[in-house]
Amino acid sequence: MTETARRPGPEDLERAGDTRKKVHRSETKTKTPAEAKRQGPTLDAVRGDHRVSTFIRAANQQTGAIGYTEHGERHANTCADGARFILRSLGHEPRRCELGAIAAYLHDIGNVVTREKHGQTGALISKDILEDLGFEYEEIAVVMGAIANHEEEEGGTAVSAVSAAVILADKSDVHRSRVRNPKTTTFDIHDRVNFAATSAEIKVSRKDKLITLELTIDTEVAPLMEYFEIFLSRMILCRRAAEFLHCAFALVINGTRLL
Ligand SMILES: [Fe+2]
Ligand SMILES: [Fe+2]
Repeated sequence: MTETARRPGPEDLERAGDTRKKVHRSETKTKTPAEAKRQGPTLDAVRGDHRVSTFIRAANQQTGAIGYTEHGERHANTCADGARFILRSLGHEPRRCELGAIAAYLHDIGNVVTREKHGQTGALISKDILEDLGFEYEEIAVVMGAIANHEEEEGGTAVSAVSAAVILADKSDVHRSRVRNPKTTTFDIHDRVNFAATSAEIKVSRKDKLITLELTIDTEVAPLMEYFEIFLSRMILCRRAAEFLHCAFALVINGTRLL
């Protein structure tokens, strides 16, 4: 398998700039233009938008109708918390952490149209809403890219720090509470693997540059092979996302490091 080392891009320069700005901020009480630019609509504004709540609820209902696990406000909030946590733990500036939370909250909204290509449709739906809420176009572009690139089955891959955080937060939300099929005897492999997961936790070590997904799997419900059958491609996506954040990715299942 070939791995290409990532060349420093505009984001790296931006981050380096942020570090310097942090020092500057502690020295003055006057808002700099850069600081003023950092402020903008928050996740609360997005979550409170009637279109967002309506579409996410409908998306959840529609994915349920075609047999998918929970994709509603619980998943949106879990992913928003996860993406914010990852970026904040790695020292990214507050506005980027907010954008990570917003993109993660909106990432599955496209399921209101169809499951297929829900990343792309979700990005376009979000664009209109974020525009109306007063987001700057630079920020809208980051959020759109993150939403459109979150699914490995749709050719998605990390394209920014925000996008990487969304991928990691989304793919690590594996839990039995997401299974909606009430009959365990009719579980498919997705139901079994999610139902088998009794805990899922992301850990971030800035010092060790390591992002770890720790899962507890009940192997009586689903053998680990089934987990890998479904999740191997997702774990590769997570590893690439972690690399984008200059971190390694580790997968620990039942206390054993597997990746
Ligand atoms: Fe998705
Ligand atoms: Fe998702």
